[in-house]
Amino acid sequence: MAAITESEWIWKDGQLIPWHQAQLHLLSTAVQFGTSMFEGIRCYDTPEGPAIFRLHEHLRRLQDSCRVFGLESPHDIATLAAACLSLVAKNKLGSCYLRPMVLLGYGGAGLSAEESPIETYIAAWPWGTYLGEGALEKGVDACISSWQRAHPNTYPLMAKAGGQYLNSQLMKWEALRNGYQEAIGLSPSGLVSEGTGMNIFVVWRGRCFTPALDGTLLPGITADSVMQLAREIGIDIEPRQIPREMLYGADEIFFTGTAAELTPVASVDRCQIGSGRTGPITKALQQQYLDYVKGKVEDRHGWRTLVPSAL
Ligand SMILES: Cc1ncc(COP(=O)(O)O)c(C=O)c1O
Repeated sequence: MAAITESEWIWKDGQLIPWHQAQLHLLSTAVQFGTSMFEGIRCYDTPEGPAIFRLHEHLRRLQDSCRVFGLESPHDIATLAAACLSLVAKNKLGSCYLRPMVLLGYGGAGLSAEESPIETYIAAWPWGTYLGEGALEKGVDACISSWQRAHPNTYPLMAKAGGQYLNSQLMKWEALRNGYQEAIGLSPSGLVSEGTGMNIFVVWRGRCFTPALDGTLLPGITADSVMQLAREIGIDIEPRQIPREMLYGADEIFFTGTAAELTPVASVDRCQIGSGRTGPITKALQQQYLDYVKGKVEDRHGWRTLVPSAL
């Protein structure tokens, strides 16, 4: 569904290296144990040229993820931001997806991994609609996963760490096998948590809710953007506990994520949500979000970083 489209260069610790030279040894700690902190960032074509959306916030979250695991990337946010901008320019990309990664390379044999070097990479490639053709317009069919999100203080789910995504893959693959496009994870207490790579929002009796940060989900940057944009058009979104059954009776449900952008949910466990068509609040917020990222409105929050063409 989403084979990678290669670009020319990958940034590695201050150097641009050819795409196919960005390789790790089989026994790198990141391959053995999933020790890779990463981000997913989008760059959009705007009337002023390509612009990376909320670059600083993504790199801040990357740094936070590293801190949780005690990995010290030698590169500060300003260096990584400059690297992201030059990578997009050098690869002559417009609209694209960026994947910064801070990982443990080859050296240590066991879990302590003291001999494994910290390596920082950034890749960028063109990537269209994450959940497939028509997902943004028609929405996706989702199920409640039989796999739960991890209990707080088992995996630090406010961090974006590679190994933790095994849980997301279990959820996603089960959903696909059963004919759904996405899965919704419940927290260990049985309340709604998040999708496999996206946050969830529910419109219920005219009010809009999203699960509160409870240690079972990622604090999404898209979710934060959508909540701010919603407030500006008079829609208040309340973080709270959401029981599973609220989903079945919801007027509207949507996912947010850098990759998924703002994707409506058409059904949950084959239960049609609302009229089965994208609801008015979802539509309005999707429009606000896409207009903002694509530069159709003024950058009043300073969220877009233009890629200088001369880099
Ligand atoms: C598990 C998970 N939840 C939520 C999100 C949405 O986060 P963001 O909007 O910052 O991309 C992502 C994507 O990064 C994710 O992987």
